Amino acid sequence: MQTNMIQNRLLSWYRKNKRLLPFRDRTEPYIIWLVEIMLQQTQVETVIPYFNKWIHQFPTLQNVAEAQLSELLKLWEGLGYYARCRNFHQAAIIIQRDHNGKIPEDWVTFRSLPGVGNYTAAAVLSIAYKLPYVVIDGNVKRVMARILGRKKLSPRNMVMINNTLNNWIDKENPGDFNQAMMELGALLCKPKRPNCTVCPLQPNCRAAAAGYPERYPRKIKKVIRPHYITVGGLIWRKNRFYVQKRNVSSMLGGLWEFPGGKVRTNESLKTALKERIKEEFGITPIIQKKIGSVEHAYSHFSITFHGYHCKENGKYLESKTEHQWITPREINMFAFPTANHKLFNLITEQGWNV
Ligand code: ADE
Repeated sequence: MQTNMIQNRLLSWYRKNKRLLPFRDRTEPYIIWLVEIMLQQTQVETVIPYFNKWIHQFPTLQNVAEAQLSELLKLWEGLGYYARCRNFHQAAIIIQRDHNGKIPEDWVTFRSLPGVGNYTAAAVLSIAYKLPYVVIDGNVKRVMARILGRKKLSPRNMVMINNTLNNWIDKENPGDFNQAMMELGALLCKPKRPNCTVCPLQPNCRAAAAGYPERYPRKIKKVIRPHYITVGGLIWRKNRFYVQKRNVSSMLGGLWEFPGGKVRTNESLKTALKERIKEEFGITPIIQKKIGSVEHAYSHFSITFHGYHCKENGKYLESKTEHQWITPREINMFAFPTANHKLFNLITEQGWNV
């Protein structure tokens, strides 16, 4: 079928059916970039409130460059994959310093910024600057695997997908073309029970013709992610407890946490907590009371996190890392990982008077 026909069908479907999202009528490259970063690994519904709060507080890229990382992380708190936020801050600073505040239009320059991969570069340059780069995210891969009737996303088939999209992309409206492909994957060509009867590309689709579109592409066996048992302690000094900032280069870097760590094989929870705190601070805390336990899943592993109220044991805890003694009311001034918030919520149910 002719490229023109495919473009027309896809784009007219998109214009009638696209979700009316708060960022869809924005044209500023900064906004488009921010949204594409927030949308990575994250559902649209989750992103919307974060997006609204963020642009209210930081209406321009210059505002982002001039902000403290801690302010940005506080706004990102709960969205996960915090490297996205740290990289975006770094990239904003570089753009102010080296590019006069303008987001580069050139692929190589833009792609070289922290956190900008092929997906982000193609999405931003096509939507914001109308440059004809094709976007290939998880949704687009699935749509194309079905259209081309490919069960495997092998390197060879990925080249085929890329070439086909490069033939099809609307040079006048590359951003709409790319968003239409992503939207098709999100709304109709879903992993399970795709809605082929209303799909604008159904006449072109080999998987639909074969009768079982959901079998394309074939599912890769889920990798089993490790599960860790972890412990953490709120170490109280009068009405304040101890929190420290995680190293910026670590996972959850720049967020605050209370101390603890992994439980080793054959170690009891309380022993593990005392040992991890001793290893880090040289003091063994007195464990006063169990708070409870919470579950949390990260991208590559999951945890059961057991929390305890503790106090210092005569000797005062000393720390080399950036830290604070805070009251429960001050929790909302810092960005904490979601697992810590889950424990704070348990304490709120129990009452903060230990
Ligand atoms: N997923 C990520 N970015 C998107 C966009 N701009 N439109 C639709 N779905 C998306």
